[in-house]
Amino acid sequence: MKYRSIAIDGPSGAGKSTLAKRLAQELGFLYVDTGAIYRTVGLAARRRGIDPAAGEIVAAMLPELDIAMGYGPDGLQHMFLNGEDVTAAIRENDVSACASKVAAISEVRDFLMEMQRRTAREHDVIMDGRDIGTVVLPGADLKIFLTAAPEARAERRYKELLERGQQAEFDQVLREVIERDRRDGSRKTAPLRQAEDAELVDTTGLDLEESFWRLLGLIRDRLGVKEENA
Ligand code: DC
Repeated sequence: MKYRSIAIDGPSGAGKSTLAKRLAQELGFLYVDTGAIYRTVGLAARRRGIDPAAGEIVAAMLPELDIAMGYGPDGLQHMFLNGEDVTAAIRENDVSACASKVAAISEVRDFLMEMQRRTAREHDVIMDGRDIGTVVLPGADLKIFLTAAPEARAERRYKELLERGQQAEFDQVLREVIERDRRDGSRKTAPLRQAEDAELVDTTGLDLEESFWRLLGLIRDRLGVKEENA
């Protein structure tokens, strides 16, 4: 049986994960958050006191890492690092920068590739990331490039951090968003860019509800997924 795949790429804070999670639930697809996988490698480097930008040292650490993805009874994706559930730990703010740095290392990307492709071979997936439509699943049934203005994305990220009880300053969050865009978009290996055959959806000025319906309409239209499947 051929499983269907939807690739959602775009910069951080465009709403990819929240929207993809809800769309997956609505369509009965598996939601795969590939950023969580890079975050797990970033966390491993940080815990070992390794500079996440030091390519050779990070690459040498990879054979010692057992990274696994699992789905709990809640249907949500959990990440495991050498057997430990690190789903919460990878969300800490300083893991974001570590993840972005290790993600620029080609050995890291190669190391994580098969895990992502295997998941798409075995399930209907909505996979979110930066290079899903361009590199990981170039044959995806539908590719969406989801973006929004940096200020709108920083605003969302700022609120999310406050809601989680973490301290944050808006200007700092905006600087981090811009810096991460620069790093993710300018790296040599699999930089963030829109695939030629991807649909561009800009969520600046749209709330989550509006973005959700726009994407669901697009998916139903393009994949012929009927409402009865919901
Ligand atoms: O989506 P996120 O913010 O959780 O991703 C964390 C980092 O991982 C981000 O800086 C970009 C990187 N990443 C990537 O390079 N390729 C992916 N497919 C997913 C994430």
